[in-house]
Parts: sequence; structure tokens; C-alpha cells
Amino acid sequence: MSHVLYRRFDQDYPVAVRGEGVELIDRDGKRYIDASGGAAVSCLGHSHERVVDAVRRQVGQLAFVHSSFFTNEPAEALADQLIANAPAGLDKVFFTSGGSEAVEAALKLARQYFVEIGQPERRRFVARRQSYHGNTLGALAVGGNAWRREQFKPLLLDVEQVSPAYAYRGREAGESDQSYVGRLLQELDETLVGLGPETVIAFVAEPVVGATMGAVPAPPGYFAGVRALCDRYGILLILDEVMCGMGRTGTLYASEQEGIDPDIVTIAKGLGVGYQPIGATLASATICEAIRAGTGFFQHGHTYMAHPVACAAGLAVQETLADEQLLGRVRLQGARLRELLRARLDDHPHVGDIRGRGLFFGIELVADRASKRPFAPELKVNAKIKAAAMERGLICYAMGGTIDGRHGDHLMLAPPFIVTDADLQQIVLRLCAAIDAGLAVADAA
Ligand SMILES: Cc1ncc(COP(=O)(O)O)c(C=O)c1O
Repeated sequence: MSHVLYRRFDQDYPVAVRGEGVELIDRDGKRYIDASGGAAVSCLGHSHERVVDAVRRQVGQLAFVHSSFFTNEPAEALADQLIANAPAGLDKVFFTSGGSEAVEAALKLARQYFVEIGQPERRRFVARRQSYHGNTLGALAVGGNAWRREQFKPLLLDVEQVSPAYAYRGREAGESDQSYVGRLLQELDETLVGLGPETVIAFVAEPVVGATMGAVPAPPGYFAGVRALCDRYGILLILDEVMCGMGRTGTLYASEQEGIDPDIVTIAKGLGVGYQPIGATLASATICEAIRAGTGFFQHGHTYMAHPVACAAGLAVQETLADEQLLGRVRLQGARLRELLRARLDDHPHVGDIRGRGLFFGIELVADRASKRPFAPELKVNAKIKAAAMERGLICYAMGGTIDGRHGDHLMLAPPFIVTDADLQQIVLRLCAAIDAGLAVADAA
């Protein structure tokens, strides 16, 4: 019996021993196409030589240095690279070891900014239901997944939650995008006014919602409207691009496609693409200047922040994205994957919605398409499909609770950017077989 404390105590996992390109290989030699990059992590696939070499070189040269004594070359170079391509106004990068830490840093930075500029009355965050921002307590508090939050509620910050931008279920029959967006923005406005906007620190959102809803972009105009409301009330906009950032949606930052500039952005998965644990919080010049001119000290930090080996991996990833023009490839292969999914699943009686951007797709499963009725949660449809996919040598991210933390099932695809046409064909073939097999098992149960 394993002594590793995994999330599930009732499950045995195959032992992964190798990764090659888009494939993972277990101890029995079985190969799996990693069509979700785990949880949208492995953007360059596995065993990418350039990144492996960069890690190897850096660990041999300087494995660790504490950031309160020294800076280091990979951290400086990676920060320069990120800021050079970041949304306008962002100026500094706080490196962490993952996404949750990046979100925690964002929350603290935002709060400290207001303390520094003499607005200590700002003490609340507003965020959205059905979002995910991580599992540490601050990140969990701003996250909106009812199931993940439930037992930890007594420990969480008091965060106001508004509706997600979830057109498939939120938009009324016959309603235009514009009117739906208008309703969402009105709700946000009323919430801010109800709280007293002068008490609000920031609005926190994923530009494309990942884990909890399955690759859901907002309707056009939503984020521009959110930005305008934040500006009206002097509230910061924190965009969590831990899953959807770093090229996953076809642009380096997902917010580029919304035409807005956030005050703080968090990134992680696509930064180290699994070769090293790394995340980052990017902050605007306005925020950084306020702290510099005030206490001159951001009261936060971790032992492994700006880790040289993690930053060397991140830098090699950034260079690879640019040199191999992978963002264009994401858009191209994303369009192909969309076509394949639509050709095979558009008429499937249990596929309610196919959505996403770039190489980031969600497939929402329903018991009945006309009414959008979800499957009973007890059937665990998503888990059965995940198991059927693994049997067929396919890794796809499957999750329940799509609608409210309890009801609804979705599958997510986030394949490596290097995915070929033949890989895409295989992914869709195996996925369709797994959906039918998983549904048959659920039906028989
Ligand atoms: C949008 C988003 N934010 C934050 C996190 C937390 O990142 P980590 O698991 O690296 O702590 C995740 C992880 O899935 C995420 O998708």
C-alpha cells in the first residue's frame, strides 16, 4: 500500500514512468495521449529537450539562492520576458511555486496597495460562483465552487460571489449576448453598490473559466464592462490566468482577447509547463510604485520564490513559444480540434455544449439536450468517462458540479501545443468511444 497521501484514499493509480511528446507511459508500458496536459499543464508535451537542458544546466550551476540575499539571472530574464509581452501597465513579477500561491500573493498585494495609499477601509473581494482560484485558504475563499468550499467555510474570508458569465445556462432563450452581458454587469454593479464600493479591494475572475465549468469564455463585452465598473469605483481587477494563460487560448494572455488590461494577473501552469513548479503574480506599475513610495516593502514571501531552476525552465518555455511560433500553432490546431469535435459530437444526444478557445475545450454532458437537464450526480458520469478514457489510452480532465458545484458534468481537453493532426484524430476517436462507454456504464448502474 502506498504511503503517499493522494486526494483519493479509495483509488489505485497506474505508475507513470516516462513521458514522450504528447504521450505518457506507465510501468506496464501502456501509452496514454495526454489530451488535457494533466490539468492544462503540459503545454510543450513531455521530455521537451530544450526545457530539460535548461533545467539540467541551471541545477548544475546554481540550484538555489534565497531571494532575501540575492537575485538570480533566470528570474531577472524571465521577468523581463514576461513583462515585455504582458498587458499594458504591468511592470513587476512576483514568482511563486504554483497557482494558489500566485493568487494568495495577488490578494495580499491588492490589499496592501490600498493600505499604502490610505484606503484601509477596502477589505473585501468580489468574485464569481463556479470559478476556481486554488486550494489555499485565500484562493479557496475567492473561488466559487460550492463543493470545494463547503467544509472549509468557517475558515474562509468573507467574499461576495456574483454569477459567472456562463452563456450556455445563464443566457435566456432568445436573449442577445448584449442583453445577457448587461444583466451580468448590472448584477455586479448592484453587488458593489450594496457592499459599498469603497470597501471593495478587487474583483477576481478567470478570463476563461477552467476546472469548475470546463473552458468557458465570457460573451463579448463582458470583461470590458467589468473593467469599466472597476474603474468607476477604484477597484482593482485581478485576472487569474493560471490555467488559461501563457498561450493556452491562442494568445499569450487570455485577457488580450478581451481588449482589457488588468491590474494584477496570475499565471502558473503554462509558465513551467510541468518541468518545474512555478507560478507568478504580475502587478501594475501603479501598484508597485505606491508600495515603493510607501513602506517600500511587500509584506509577503516564500522560501522558494524566484527559484533559479524553476525560472530557468520558465524562460526556456517562453523562448520555445516564441522561436517555434507556437501561439499560431495553438490557434491552428485549436481550430482543427474544434472542427473534429463538432463533426463527431454536435449531434450526440448527451453533448449539450462544446466551447473553448485555442487548444482549450470543454464539453458539457447532459441527460437531455432540449431541457439541458444534467445527469444525476450519483451516476458520476464524468468519472466513468475518465476511467473509460484511461482504459483507451487517453487522458482527459473530467469534472462534476459544472452548474452549481453538485450538478452537471464536463470534460476538458487541453492538449500540448505540439499536437499533430494525427494526434487530434486519435484524441477525438478515443474521446468519443470513452463518452459512449462511460455513459453505458452509468446507464447500467
Ligand atoms: C484558474 C486557476 N487558479 C488557480 C489554480 C491553483 O493552482 P495550483 O494548483 O498550482 O495551486 C488553478 C489550478 O487548477 C486554476 O485553474
